Formats: sequence, C-alpha cells, structure tokens
Amino acid sequence: MRRTSIIAIDGPAASGKSSTAQMVAEKLDYLHVDSGSLYRAATAAILRAQPNPDEWTERSVLDAARGVELRAARTSFYPVLDNRAIEEEIRGADVTRNVSRVAQMPRVREWVNAKVRDAAASSNVVVDGRDMGTVVFPEADLKIFLVADSRERAARRLRQRGTPTSEKLLDDETLRIIERDARDARQTVPAADAAIIDTTSLTQREQVERIVNLWIEQSG
Ligand code: CDP
Repeated sequence: MRRTSIIAIDGPAASGKSSTAQMVAEKLDYLHVDSGSLYRAATAAILRAQPNPDEWTERSVLDAARGVELRAARTSFYPVLDNRAIEEEIRGADVTRNVSRVAQMPRVREWVNAKVRDAAASSNVVVDGRDMGTVVFPEADLKIFLVADSRERAARRLRQRGTPTSEKLLDDETLRIIERDARDARQTVPAADAAIIDTTSLTQREQVERIVNLWIEQSG
C-alpha cells in the first residue's frame, strides 16, 4: 500500500507547471519532481554523445541516459549527469529544440516514469509534466491540468529569460510554443478527474493558492 501523497500537475509547454509545482511543494513541505527535467537530461546526455539528432535511436538515447540520476535536495529532486548538476545545460535552446523527439521514444518514457515513481515512493511529492495524472500516477490524490493562452505563455518564457523583448521575439516564441504543443499533443491530455485551471489571467501566487486550497478542501 502506498503511504505517500501525490499531487500531479500537468499541462502544455510554459503553462507554469514547474514553478507552480515548486511553490505548492514548498507550501506543503512536499518534494517537487519535475518529470520534464528528466526528458531534458536524457536529451542533454545524447547531445553530448551524438550532436546530430538524425542519428539518435532509442537504444543510443537510453545508453547515454545511463549517466543520469535523480537526486533529492531540500525542496525538490534534480537530475545530475555523470554526478554533476546540469540545470543550465538542460534549459538551453539546443535541448529545448530536441527534447520532444526524445520524449516520443516509448522506452525513454518508461525510463522517466520509473525514476519519477521511485522518487514518489519515499516522499510526499508534487510531480509535474504532461502525463503524470494519466499514465504515471492514475491514482494521484489530486490532479491539476494548467492551461494558458499561447501568447501569454510565450511572454512568460521571455520574462523568465530576463532578456529584452520585442513584438518580433514574442511572435517567434509563440510559434515555437505552438509547434512544441503539436509535437507533444499525444501525451498532453487532461485526466478525466483533473481540475482544469486556466492561468492566462492569474498571477503565480493566485494559481498556487487555488491548488493549495483544493488540496486543503479535499483532505479536510
Ligand atoms: O515546461 P516545458 O513545457 O517547457 O517543458 P518541460 O516540462 O521541461 O518538458 C520538456 C519536454 O519534455 C516537453 O516538451 C515534452 O516533450 C517532454 N515531456 C513529456 O513528454 N512528458 C512529461 N511528463 C514531461 C515532459
């Protein structure tokens, strides 16, 4: 019997899943697990081994990903590659451009799912991704699906990067997000029992409060 609690937060690219999941985890004293960081770590690993994505196979990606581990810190799990933190590398443009290709590989998905389930076996967790409430934890205690307008999501990504912006950059980023949505569409479907929250006009704090309140209502 499972004894830990699981809150699953899913949604499309840049819908605010990871930052929201991190804040919810801190409020509840749970650990945050970002499943996307594992897809990104596997992509960083194969990019180091083979810079040409056309040459990648499921086997070569899994081999490269053998150096990836998920470690627990105070408030979250984070991936390491060959014992080194790789946060900056996994957020880079090269990884972002190629991660959906790696995420289409069924055995890579199994590899990620096993690591995320291991993390949830030993701690109360807030997990985020695309299929946490459907495939990985259909038994999750609370399921949230975040949505937001694509242009608003692009604006958030640009703000997050902290670089100067323009209408042209916003158009380009919106297009990249729409393209990634299309590539990830198959696994980005809300669970039938998920609460859908449109965050287009919510602040980060408001969306965190809504989720924490849902959790309190449900467990009280
Ligand atoms: O938040 P953002 O969409 O930028 O990305 P992420 O959560 O870091 O995930 C990066 C990529 O990993 C996504 O574009 C998906 O291709 C893949 N992914 C997935 O397929 N399933 C998950 N549970 C999490 C991420």
